[in-house]
Amino acid sequence: MATLSLSSRPLTFLRPNRTKPPLHRLLRHKPLASSSASALTPPTPRADPSSTPDPDPTPLFLRSASHPVPAAALASFRRRAAALVPPSAPHLHRHLRWLLADATADPSSDPALLRAPLDDLEAMWTRHVRERRPFQYVVGNEHWRDLVVAVREGVLIPRPETEAVVDMIRKVEGFADGRWADLGTGSGAIAVAVARELGHEGRVFAVDVSEVAVEVATLNVQRYGVQGKVEIRHGSWFEPLEDVKGKLMGVISNPPYIPTDDLPGLQPEVGWHEPKLALDGGKEGLEHLLHLCEGLSSVLKPGGFFVFEALAI
Ligand SMILES: C[S@@+](CC[C@H](N)C(=O)[O-])C[C@H]1O[C@@H](n2cnc3c(N)ncnc32)[C@H](O)[C@@H]1O
Repeated sequence: MATLSLSSRPLTFLRPNRTKPPLHRLLRHKPLASSSASALTPPTPRADPSSTPDPDPTPLFLRSASHPVPAAALASFRRRAAALVPPSAPHLHRHLRWLLADATADPSSDPALLRAPLDDLEAMWTRHVRERRPFQYVVGNEHWRDLVVAVREGVLIPRPETEAVVDMIRKVEGFADGRWADLGTGSGAIAVAVARELGHEGRVFAVDVSEVAVEVATLNVQRYGVQGKVEIRHGSWFEPLEDVKGKLMGVISNPPYIPTDDLPGLQPEVGWHEPKLALDGGKEGLEHLLHLCEGLSSVLKPGGFFVFEALAI
């Protein structure tokens, strides 16, 4: 089993027989090594997240606290919610505390002012416990580096190990005034984090083929006020970068890299709910990475960098 994330709000990719953590690399136009396939756990039934869209995609903690409920009703919800937690899942009690913290403007007031109707909270909690919907999708955000990144179904929840790519490129000489591309930007977490470190001339081109990702990344870029430094571009990998060919100091990417055959063995929070487009790396998990490596030389300026996340080999 390899764990890809262990944060305050954990989400893991479970892959039997994979023992190494993901690899982050900092390369100067170097080729890639391959990874090996693994055995699978039996397929698990798949929820269909598209059939139950979020009534409100705004992160819970950003919604207005406009739903008064008697403190006794809130306490009763807390007891009912806690009673749903199986003994084998103590982390769910922690999630319940976080849910209430995000949902309540002033927990000591009576009536309590909630950011969503109590019935909605009840439904959100039930989906988390019964359908294994990731907690991050329930509350609509993930804590990542020093950011609180908005997320929702259709966009990958950024993982803590991906934080390392930002630390890596910050060390590159000339980083702050360089032009960078974040290919497969998803929530835009990398692009926003990089943009906040850039100098006056620095820019990030954040590319994703997913419309949901483009929407969520746009929201995160706006929330952090880095519109002047991040350009979000919709399209496949290098396609939207024609105008900056040969001008980039570096390309950063956390492309989909789970081998297709491993997808059915992912833990339900991931396999049932996170977008296949963000996970499926094709046979051996290298399809997208190899495509990126092939195209790098056309967009990088001489001496440019490629920083990426991949499975360990
Ligand atoms: C593993 S996720 C990474 C998301 C984000 N960068 C992060 O680290 O949280 C991979 C991303 O690549 C995007 N993607 C998949 N195929 C793509 C393509 N052909 N062109 C651009 N982006 C693509 C997915 O939509 C997804 O957002």
